[in-house]
Amino acid sequence: MRVQVNARNRGYQFDAAPGEKLLYAGLRAGIDLPYECGTGTCGTCKAKAVAGRVRDGWPQAPGRKYVKPEQGEFLMCQCAAEEDVTLEVAKFVYPADPGACIPALCAGTLRQAAMLTHDVMSFSVELEQPCDFDAGQFVVVAAPGVEGYRAYSMVNFERGARRLDFLVKNKPGGEFSAWLFSASRDGARLELFGPLGKATFYPDLGKNILCISGGSGVAGMMSILQRAVQERYFEQHRGWLFFGVRTMRDAFYLRELSSFRERFPARLAVTVALSDEDVPGSAATDWPALAFARGFVHEVAKQAMSGRYQNLRAYVAGPPPAVDAALRVLLLEAKLTADNIRYDKFS
Ligand code: FES
Repeated sequence: MRVQVNARNRGYQFDAAPGEKLLYAGLRAGIDLPYECGTGTCGTCKAKAVAGRVRDGWPQAPGRKYVKPEQGEFLMCQCAAEEDVTLEVAKFVYPADPGACIPALCAGTLRQAAMLTHDVMSFSVELEQPCDFDAGQFVVVAAPGVEGYRAYSMVNFERGARRLDFLVKNKPGGEFSAWLFSASRDGARLELFGPLGKATFYPDLGKNILCISGGSGVAGMMSILQRAVQERYFEQHRGWLFFGVRTMRDAFYLRELSSFRERFPARLAVTVALSDEDVPGSAATDWPALAFARGFVHEVAKQAMSGRYQNLRAYVAGPPPAVDAALRVLLLEAKLTADNIRYDKFS
């Protein structure tokens, strides 16, 4: 099917395969169509069909509250073309940056699922073809028998990656997490689309970096820190990671975070914030490379970062209330410009 997109600044044409979501077809063609979640919740990918018909793959998508179907509006991440279509997107749309990792459909095999805490699991996908992505990006993942895609950030970082590592929290009502946690899924074939997301870190940034994450939102931060450590970024710049969990029982990756910190103890600081309990006396002896504090992660970060916001890029990830609280600190207290606050909103 031929797709014409008329944006505020110019028009684009691309082809979409039968059943292919229009957002994914456009991104695959190197057109930076608007999106945030890629999975039907945020409404950012809203478009209007002015010619031709589209089929909605998920009429109950939460992001549908942002569209007016009676006026031809729909979510590009949920709809496929039924014939040649012409769409209007009420935003400026540009071609993907030269050198950007262009998203594509790919597939792989689920391996090495392991419980990290009572409700967080890690797993890997061995890809059928290598994939390039930037530190901090995510993919959307579809599992057999589970309707639709879910977004997960990569934990690892590697160019030409043959394996992607992920974290999943067992969420009540979450269909993918129910599928993953309910039985051994080793060897299951997963479909993926990506990489996606703009909360990316590049070693030529030239700024100190601040990462504020809650729970499994630490996934993308691990990728950013891995790349920064690989590139010896903290020989020149400072880095702070604040990792919020409820209790010590909910904390994970402390060994990996310790090893990052031990490589650059003078310039990289890692603080685990416990919202629901005082810091146990054993934490400092068990994890001498890490700091621990009682409080919500945005409050712990605010206190520790006071007066340190110059020349800074911030990355935020986690449950939406934690992300919103951290964004308020970064905008109102730190007075960072929007360009220096990076987050991808998916939940
Ligand atoms: Fe489509 Fe979020 S609803 S990108």
